[in-house]
Amino acid sequence: TGEMSGGCPVHGGSMRGLLGRTNRDWWPDQLQLDILTQSGKSADPLGEDFDYCEAFNALDYNALKADLTALMTDSQAWWPADYGHYGPFFIRMAWHAAGTYRTGDGRGGASSGQQRFAPLNSWPDNGNLDKARRLLWPIKQKYGKHISWADLFILTGNVAIESMGGPVFGFGGGRKDVYEPETVYWGTEEQWVNEGVATRIRPDEGKALENPLAAIQMGLIYVNPEGPGGNPHDAEGMARDMRETFSRMAMNDEETVALTAGGHAFGKAHGAKPADSFGGAPESEHLALMGFGWLTDKDEIEKGHITTSGIEGAWTPNPTEWGNDYFRLLFKYEYELVQSPAGANQWQPINPDPEDMAPDARDPSKKVPTMMTTADMALKRDPEYRKISERFRDDQAALDDAFARAWFKLCHRDMGPKVRYMGPEVPSEDLIWQDPVPAGSTPSSGTVSDFKSKVLGSGLSVSELVKAAWASASTFRNSDHRGGANGARVRLAPQKDWAANDPEELSRVLSKLDELRGELSMADAIVLAGAAAIEKAAKDGGFDVSVDVTTGRGDASQEQTDAESFEPLEPFADGFRNYLKTKADVKTEDMLVDKAHLLGLSIPEMTALVGGMRALGAISKHAKHGNSIGVLTDRPGTLSNDFFVNLLSMDTEWSVIDDSGDEEFQGRCRKTGADKWTATRTDLVFGSNSQLRAIAEVFAESGGEQKFVDTFVKAWTKVMDADRADIAMAKYRG
Ligand code: HEM
Repeated sequence: TGEMSGGCPVHGGSMRGLLGRTNRDWWPDQLQLDILTQSGKSADPLGEDFDYCEAFNALDYNALKADLTALMTDSQAWWPADYGHYGPFFIRMAWHAAGTYRTGDGRGGASSGQQRFAPLNSWPDNGNLDKARRLLWPIKQKYGKHISWADLFILTGNVAIESMGGPVFGFGGGRKDVYEPETVYWGTEEQWVNEGVATRIRPDEGKALENPLAAIQMGLIYVNPEGPGGNPHDAEGMARDMRETFSRMAMNDEETVALTAGGHAFGKAHGAKPADSFGGAPESEHLALMGFGWLTDKDEIEKGHITTSGIEGAWTPNPTEWGNDYFRLLFKYEYELVQSPAGANQWQPINPDPEDMAPDARDPSKKVPTMMTTADMALKRDPEYRKISERFRDDQAALDDAFARAWFKLCHRDMGPKVRYMGPEVPSEDLIWQDPVPAGSTPSSGTVSDFKSKVLGSGLSVSELVKAAWASASTFRNSDHRGGANGARVRLAPQKDWAANDPEELSRVLSKLDELRGELSMADAIVLAGAAAIEKAAKDGGFDVSVDVTTGRGDASQEQTDAESFEPLEPFADGFRNYLKTKADVKTEDMLVDKAHLLGLSIPEMTALVGGMRALGAISKHAKHGNSIGVLTDRPGTLSNDFFVNLLSMDTEWSVIDDSGDEEFQGRCRKTGADKWTATRTDLVFGSNSQLRAIAEVFAESGGEQKFVDTFVKAWTKVMDADRADIAMAKYRG
């Protein structure tokens, strides 16, 4: 359905808070450190000046890799390595670090080391990965600030694969750690997956997987390995859940098969005992456990009696060697449904040959049956997956290549453009999912000022120019560093046709700019035209400002653009342009805040941008509300603080327009009752919310005009240049 694939952030049900359940809901007794991060005080011990890329450049990369390789077989008594090799365990750690990424909002993923913090450190699916991270501590300690935890998780996964003979495509470093849990919407459920919470996709009840979520139940990375809602017989549902969740992470069928089978060439699942015989997750455990959770008896650990997922056994007879035994066994045998010692549903080969049995994790002389999860079985039970699986069974080289590439994508997709990768193992090949943009060239200041004056004489209005520049730049997301003005993809499918962009007007503006641009790239021309318009609008308002945006952007071609992968970037709501596609379950103002967060804006910056864009008349015609809504100025196209002045005026009384669904409001003169303004929720929230009102007051005060204009111009420039990683990273390359 449209909702399963589209940009709608919500599905069915009653209005919900934007963030769903947060750490405080899960762990009310958690130490509350956030009072110390009030008033903009950072939790980062390395400080604002710390330059991680510079520190990473000084890392002894090969020494680190050698230490990691040695760690793989350096079994520790407090958590012995299965088969004497930690490789599989570390692959799972890296995969779960990266696997929270979702295309819907670009959030999640490995890029800031979030697995260290709640809720991820305590998700049922991340069971026992606290031990994996702790095994790495001596190495993290040794290399210090030169390697972030975030990079270390992924690099360790790579080294694990290499050390077991698996294929690797490359590694890019540059993931800077953060020091506090990121606030991400993970869902609204009040129970974890293992507490009987219902699966999110329920076609019989008309329930699709809610955007932007990419997991089927709370606390899972993707799907329930035992089947939809734990039902191993629902083969169709299993494949559906896998397809839906993996596609939310930008993986197609082939990548899904390669990743799952390639991952499960290694290691084992752990289900020695029922899960309720173990302690709680790290975030809720006793202080003396020092951050560990899921604890059990030392003797049991020694014997390998560990429970993680509850499923028990290895997939192949050689769990620490890359090869094709996974597919060989999957197709060689019929599998029967059995229960693990912990009571989980899993599949076991019927009458396996002795050489197809797996070694015991602690005693290689002992042989135990292999197994498949219900998710693994989907690779042969689903017709599409099966075709791919059979091909990989018969063509090891194809599997090697597909696995290596899919693993690389899994671990790097959330880093954005390739210029952001650091280190000696960055692959030279350009990949389409990196959204490549050809290098641009920097125009002379004469070219720029010539162009700007031509634009102002072209007959295009301030509003049109500002809207085009905003449409181009505002797709940027701080989360996965995709989108933005570089590449001028606003002139390509799918962006050129997005309703929020007023396609007809946009196409007219872009062709005019194309005529005028001379040697400038389209990407630069669009941004410079917006800057010219704002400078003129400010001048008309009595302010002399210069909007100093960068130049040197390149233009991407349609061939360099995976159109489908840009669809999740379509704004469902863009409060800056007063655009709302359809009424949603989340308040429109919540979605404004969400977009401001993805753009990297502060509260004053968001406020100034909204007020400024209203003043400039830069609101979407395709806004549900029509063109006249939410301007609140008599002189649209002039940069002024009118929006704030008029919004806060006690001369106006507001009431909801009846059939608007609580989205549109009429402002009337308090004395005469005459209609004055119309507005949306995103307008009125700057008067109704106490914190936003406090900022609107600063901009509306006499003497506050200049502050408003300066804040607006700074925020505007920030959005226009938000995607210039090419500039930021240039200094690290010789
Ligand atoms: C282990 C499920 C995809 C790599 C496991 C375990 C389960 C599971 C239940 C056992 C955990 C335990 O009890 O210790 C799934 C499902 C997947 C999936 C349902 C998707 C449909 C992947 C992918 C990779 C991967 C994409 C990596 C490319 C591993 C590895 C282990 C593992 C290496 C073994 C860990 C160890 O030996 O400690 N997986 N997995 N899995 N998974 Fe997956």
